Amino acid sequence: MRRLAGKVALVTGAASGIGAACARRFAEEGASVAAFDLAAPGGPLWQATGEAAPAVHVELGDVRDDARVAEAVAAVRAKLGRVDVLLNAAGVAGGGPVHLIEPAEWDRVLDVNLRGTFLFSRHVLPVMLAQGSGSIVNLASVEGIEGFEGGSAYNASKGAVMILTRNMAIDYGRRGIRVNAICPGFIETPMLQGLLDNEALTGVADAIREAHQLGRFGRADEVANAALFLASDEASFVTGVALPVDGGYTAGHRFGIARLMGLE
Ligand code: NAI
Repeated sequence: MRRLAGKVALVTGAASGIGAACARRFAEEGASVAAFDLAAPGGPLWQATGEAAPAVHVELGDVRDDARVAEAVAAVRAKLGRVDVLLNAAGVAGGGPVHLIEPAEWDRVLDVNLRGTFLFSRHVLPVMLAQGSGSIVNLASVEGIEGFEGGSAYNASKGAVMILTRNMAIDYGRRGIRVNAICPGFIETPMLQGLLDNEALTGVADAIREAHQLGRFGRADEVANAALFLASDEASFVTGVALPVDGGYTAGHRFGIARLMGLE
């Protein structure tokens, strides 16, 4: 039995990176997938895999647009009948030292990452309440758990997503709806590629990679595996958690003492 057999999963940010990997993984496990993004799936990652795209219902739009989100959720319900899983992966990077950020940039990051998660949850929750069941998985970040140089707007948005997740878990648990977050470390997606491609940041990228105790960046499919677990009935007693999928990034610090002890 496939792990999401018979379920309908709505995935935002599904055209790229983690959202695309989750959409594909959910489809492999038997879900009917509705994809929402600014652009149609078929973007770089889906093509790069060489795999046939899973059967998906596609809705285009901006997660910041309340009316468009309402329409899209209604269309998914009309087309696929229900929404069992909502995965909020649409997101943007951005920030900088606070005294250098323009308010418009602050708003852009908070609006996509936090307001977008709120709006999709706001419109999907009535569907899940009517069903008496559902699983919402929000993409937070290790940067919602701890600070990061220049993080500001992005980190504030992800910290807010984490506490929003916990509050929704409290509000809807007794109605059969589970709400969890994933906190990925640095994952090789187009979002991270911008950093890796910048030659001026080569040393920085190496230092960030080394901050993961597994000594590498993560892959989108590794995040998708965690999302699959949280989305599925295997996680039937899991709600209100913010699960790091971070290769040990938040485990603690490493100063080379283990090497002195002959560990490497
Ligand atoms: P990505 O840039 O590869 O994909 C993000 C997707 O969101 C894109 O398809 C984009 O079109 C879509 N999107 C952006 N703004 C949108 C809007 N206003 N309306 C609709 N769709 C919009 O990014 P990635 O890396 O796959 O990130 C996915 C999520 O995971 C984001 O929330 C990100 O913050 C989070 N995350 C990513 C990490 C990483 O290292 N890549 C680490 C921790 C969290």
